[in-house]
Amino acid sequence: MAEVRLQKAMADAGVASRRASEKLILEGHVKVNGRVVKELGTKVSNDDAIEVDGSLLERESKVYFLFYKPRGVISAAKDDKGRKVVTDYFKDIARRVYPIGRLDYDTSGIILVTNDGQLANLLMHPRYKVNKTYVAKVEGLVQNDDLKHLRKGVKMKDGHFSARAKAQIISSDRAKNSSIVSLTIHEGRNHQVKNMFEAIGHPVKKLKRESYDFLTLDGLVSGQFRELSRDEVKMLYEHARQNAKRK
Ligand code: URA
Repeated sequence: MAEVRLQKAMADAGVASRRASEKLILEGHVKVNGRVVKELGTKVSNDDAIEVDGSLLERESKVYFLFYKPRGVISAAKDDKGRKVVTDYFKDIARRVYPIGRLDYDTSGIILVTNDGQLANLLMHPRYKVNKTYVAKVEGLVQNDDLKHLRKGVKMKDGHFSARAKAQIISSDRAKNSSIVSLTIHEGRNHQVKNMFEAIGHPVKKLKRESYDFLTLDGLVSGQFRELSRDEVKMLYEHARQNAKRK
């Protein structure tokens, strides 16, 4: 059975980064098969029981899915109001998976679902500037000047200025007084897209996330998911690490 360094096994299980796991080991928080281990070189296999401050690590194999979230589904593992949640679609998967990041209840589109805490931590880190493309149906006829504002950055109601973005009008409907606009951003603040459109006076009526980094919804219909390939997972890790190095 393959052996890995203790700090890697801890990071893979989503305990903390490798560096932070090393600190936990050195400080005596970690036991392997019931014994405190303080040596960083210690190798462990899947059969070894690792405890951090008395809690046993779950070391199941990692799974990664790309899910096309329908509107009307909460992007969480459970909802106290009993509404449908993303993990309801993954009941047949013999792993405890959860979505990475969030999409609003009334937003549809791409969301990643995994049991890999390390990848989830990396992708949700504010420094991970992955491009996400949204298609929004908004009220009113969006003008080129509006796009310029979106591209440069607008002041949102939380006081924050959005970073540079890509924006393009896909279509306008004079009769219905609405427009369809594609917006690519790399930030992930709460209700970011809705707040950006609100800031330019065109509230969002419908929102869909069409891509996440290099991943798209191709081949899926709403409510379906597919497993990510090894190469796709590798690429997400690579992009996340490159961003973590940047500043
Ligand atoms: N921005 C929003 O306003 N809502 C989402 O669900 C995602 C991004």
